[in-house]
Amino acid sequence: MSKIITLLLLLAASQQPTLACDGVIGQTARTTTTRDWWQSAQFYQIYPRSFKDSNGDGIGDLPGITSQLDYLKELGVTAVWLSPIYTSPMADFGYDIADFFDIQPEYGTLDDFDNLIQEANKRDLKVILDFVPNHSSDENEWFKKSVRREKGYEDYYMWHDGYVDDAGNRLPPSNWLQGFRGSAWEWNEQRQQYYLHQFAVKQPDLNYRNPTVVAQMKRVLKYWLDRGVAGFRIDAVPWCFEVLPDATGRYPDEPKSGYTDDPDDSSYLLHIYTQDQPETLDMVYQWRQLLEDYQRIHGGDTRVLLTEAWSPLDYVMKFYGNRTVEGAQMPFNFQFIVGGNGDKNNTQLPASGFVKIISSWLDNMPAEHTANWVMGNHDQRRVGSRYGEQRIDTMNMLQMFLPGVSITYMGEEIGMTDLDISWEDSRDPAACNSNSEIYEQFTRDPARTPFQWSNAENAGFSTNSTTWLPINPNYVTVNVQTEKAATKSHLTIYNQLVALRKTKTLQLGDVRYSAFGDNILAIKRSLKNEKTYLLLANVLNSDATVDVTRELKVSGNFKTIISNMISTAKEGDVISADNILLKAYEAIVVESE
Ligand code: NOJ
Repeated sequence: MSKIITLLLLLAASQQPTLACDGVIGQTARTTTTRDWWQSAQFYQIYPRSFKDSNGDGIGDLPGITSQLDYLKELGVTAVWLSPIYTSPMADFGYDIADFFDIQPEYGTLDDFDNLIQEANKRDLKVILDFVPNHSSDENEWFKKSVRREKGYEDYYMWHDGYVDDAGNRLPPSNWLQGFRGSAWEWNEQRQQYYLHQFAVKQPDLNYRNPTVVAQMKRVLKYWLDRGVAGFRIDAVPWCFEVLPDATGRYPDEPKSGYTDDPDDSSYLLHIYTQDQPETLDMVYQWRQLLEDYQRIHGGDTRVLLTEAWSPLDYVMKFYGNRTVEGAQMPFNFQFIVGGNGDKNNTQLPASGFVKIISSWLDNMPAEHTANWVMGNHDQRRVGSRYGEQRIDTMNMLQMFLPGVSITYMGEEIGMTDLDISWEDSRDPAACNSNSEIYEQFTRDPARTPFQWSNAENAGFSTNSTTWLPINPNYVTVNVQTEKAATKSHLTIYNQLVALRKTKTLQLGDVRYSAFGDNILAIKRSLKNEKTYLLLANVLNSDATVDVTRELKVSGNFKTIISNMISTAKEGDVISADNILLKAYEAIVVESE
C-alpha cells in the first residue's frame, strides 16, 4: 500500500479505543424503523480506467460501464461511485482535473455520460461522482489564468514568494511535504512565486479562503446534480484548508513525526497545519446544505455525500455533522484498512482485532447516524492481499452483514487480488515519483489492474493487444463468467449475501458481537419477530470449537444458509449454538430455526 497516508493511518490507529482481547462484546441497538434509500445501500466503486473498455484502446470508458449495468444490477448494487471521469492530463489518473465540467475524451463524451445516467435510472441504479475539491490540474484554465494573474484569478491558488537565504538561494515558504514525495511547494517561473500542491506537482491546491473559489466549486456540484447524479464522494477533503500565515506572512513549519528517516516521504512530518483544519468541516456542512437545497427545489431522492479522510477518528466523526448542522451521510469508515496491523499485513489478525475494528466505529459514531464499511479501494492493496486469500469471503460477509452501508471496490466480489507490477509497467505517480528500488512501498497500481470479466483474452476487459496496466494472470479462474457458472465461488457467496441483506433483520436489526479466543468472531443480527442471523468466522489457521450462547444471548439450533469457499458445510446443515466447530478459516452464516 502507498505510504502517502501512512502517517495518517498511524495517527488514526493511535486514536482507537483499547479493548480487552478475549470475549469482548459489542452491541448496538438500532432504533429507527424507516430508512432512507442510502442507509442500507450497497455502494460499488468503479475505477473507470480499469472496468470495461468498449472501443479497444486498452483503457476502460463510460460506454464500457453502461454496457455492464445489468451486471451491477444483478450484483444488488444500489449506487455506483465512479472515480474521476473529467478532462485530465492523467498525472494522477483523473484526480488532476483540467476541466471540471467535461469528460476525459479517452472515457467518452458528455453524451456518453448522459446516456449512462439514463440507462442507470432505467435500472433504478444511482450514480455518484468523485468530487475533487482540494486541487485541479496545472492544465486547468483557472490555474493558467492565475499564473498570469488575470483579474479574478489572482488568488485562486495558494501562492507565496518564498524566501532567499544569505547565499542567495531560493527557499520554499515552509517545510511542507506533498503526498507523492518531496516539497509541497513548486516554483513557477512565469508568476515568480511558489504554489502549493499537496499532491503531485501537477495538482495545484485551490485556495479555499477565496470566496470565488468556494462559489466556483459549488457551481461544479450543481452542474453534475443537474446532469442527474445522486451525490458525491469527496476526495482528499482534509487538505482543503491550511492554517493562515502569521502577521509577517510566514507559514509555520510542520514538526517531524519520527515515523520515518526519509525526508521526502510525506509521513516524515506531522501534518498539523495542512490537514484537518476546522474550516474544512464547515465547508462539508455547506456542501450538504447545497444538496438539501437542491432536493427542496428539484425534488427527487436524497443526494448523498461520502467523505474521504484518513484523519484521527474524532475528526472523521465530525464530518457527520453536529447538533446544529448536518454533514456527510457517510464519512468513509476506513477502520478495516487502518485498524488491525494498519497498512501492513492483517493476515494474522485475531478475532479480537476484528472486534476492535468494528467497535472503533460503532462506539464512536454519533447517535442517530448510519455506519458504513469500506474494506478497500483504488489506493489500497486488495482485501485478499491484505487479509489473506482464505479470508476473502469472510471480509465480504463482514461488509454485508454489519449494520449500515456497504461499499465494495470493484473486483472484491470475485476475489481479485493484487498483481505485482514491474517498475517499467508502473503508472501510479506515487510509484513513479520514487525509484526502481523503493517504488513497491508506494505503488497503488497492483489494486488497479483491469477487471476480470471472463477467461477470454485480456480477461474480457479489452480487445486491444495491450492494456493500460497488465492483467492479473489469475483471470483464468478468477473472473465473473467462471464464477457465475460455478456451484460455489466468491461471486455466488457475494450474491447470497446480497439476498441476505434484503431481510428486515439485516436492514433494521440490532447487532451484538464478540471474539471467542483468538480464532472465532461471532456476530448476531436480530430484530423482534424476525429471524436471527449469526455470522460465525474462524479467522485463523487452526480449528476451533465455540459456545456462543452466553455472549450472544442465543440458544438452540441454527440452520446454515451461507458458507465460505473453505467450508464444506451445506445449506440446511443444523448447528447448535452451544457447540460450534469451525475449521481453519471457515466462515458461515446461520439463521434461527
Ligand atoms: C485520494 C484519491 O483516492 C487518490 O487516488 C488521489 O491520488 C488523491 N486523493 C489525490 O487526489
